[in-house]
Amino acid sequence: MRYLSGIQPTGRLHLGNYFGMIRPAVELQTKGEAYYFLADYHALTGAAASGQLPGLVQETFLDLLGCGVDPEKAVVFRQSAVPEVHELAWYLSTVTPMGLLERCHSYKDKVAKGISPSHGLFAYPVLMAADILLYDADRVPVGQDQKQHLEVARDVAGKFNDKFGPVFKLPESIIREEAGVVPGVDGQKMSKSYNNTLEIFAPEKELRKAIMGIKTDSTPVESPKAVEGSTLWGLARLMGTEGERAEFRARMEKGGTGYGDLKKMLADMVLKEFAALRKRREELAADPKKVARWMTEGAAKARKTADGVLARVRAAVGTKS
Ligand code: ADP
Ligand code: TRP
Repeated sequence: MRYLSGIQPTGRLHLGNYFGMIRPAVELQTKGEAYYFLADYHALTGAAASGQLPGLVQETFLDLLGCGVDPEKAVVFRQSAVPEVHELAWYLSTVTPMGLLERCHSYKDKVAKGISPSHGLFAYPVLMAADILLYDADRVPVGQDQKQHLEVARDVAGKFNDKFGPVFKLPESIIREEAGVVPGVDGQKMSKSYNNTLEIFAPEKELRKAIMGIKTDSTPVESPKAVEGSTLWGLARLMGTEGERAEFRARMEKGGTGYGDLKKMLADMVLKEFAALRKRREELAADPKKVARWMTEGAAKARKTADGVLARVRAAVGTKS
């Protein structure tokens, strides 16, 4: 079984990224072959200012390693280490119906948020399909918001196979329903583009401050607090031991604990949950040589796999052999 997933290097990783995508990916790296990459080509469709990309790739690479992605177990690389992904994206784009891309929510959402409606942004799902198919991936762990992109990848792979013969396996998504959508400090989906994130590797003081700033309603201290649908529970339910979660929930339900105290409890739970990860990231940040070596090795392994698949694709479409 081959697992593959990618994440855009667009800023510091947050709790939504972790529970929605990174933790499942870390668990899978020991269950089969795993390919994890930084989608730096995809990141160019976003709002990052020019010149920021190398730093973002470096930081996100460290964030991933800190979270437990292990280059000794998984093939970890940056997308642009294998630029041939664009060759495959082109072949795929010739069999991708316009209507399929026009229906993609992500494009419409991003344009609505003010991201420039470039051709790159529109064609994003085709490049994503190429990312997956270039490495013969069977399963793709992603957050819920990427489900439609996975359906596009399957559709496009099927269309390619119909036209050129059985070249690709049809990839399937793995979506952890229990993580659901992780709420941000304002109660909306946690997302960099909403400025409502809790960054896993932010300094402790900053992280505590952000948690203390979580929006709550005006229920008085002594009254029971609404649990389901609340941001505090939406985060606490993902953290700590079963006992700690039960205690948190009971305090909300019983009343007598104010939101300030609940937030302090949550901050402690978050810091405890991520303490080992934060330590690992610090250690790796102090060893840039090792990190650079992993990045190079990952790229070489990814390229080897991609070369094999691309040879098959070129033979099928009839381009250079
Ligand atoms: P952002 O919305 O902050 O830009 P990305 O789109 O880069 O995040 O998401 C990277 C991965 O993390 C995707 O697989 C996505 O589904 C997952 N993810 C992001 N935010 C959340 C969230 N709030 N809840 C669950 N998963 C999320
Ligand atoms: N679109 C994904 C996101 O924004 C990132 C991504 C790019 C990806 N290529 C991929 C995820 C291939 C899984 C497989 O989160």
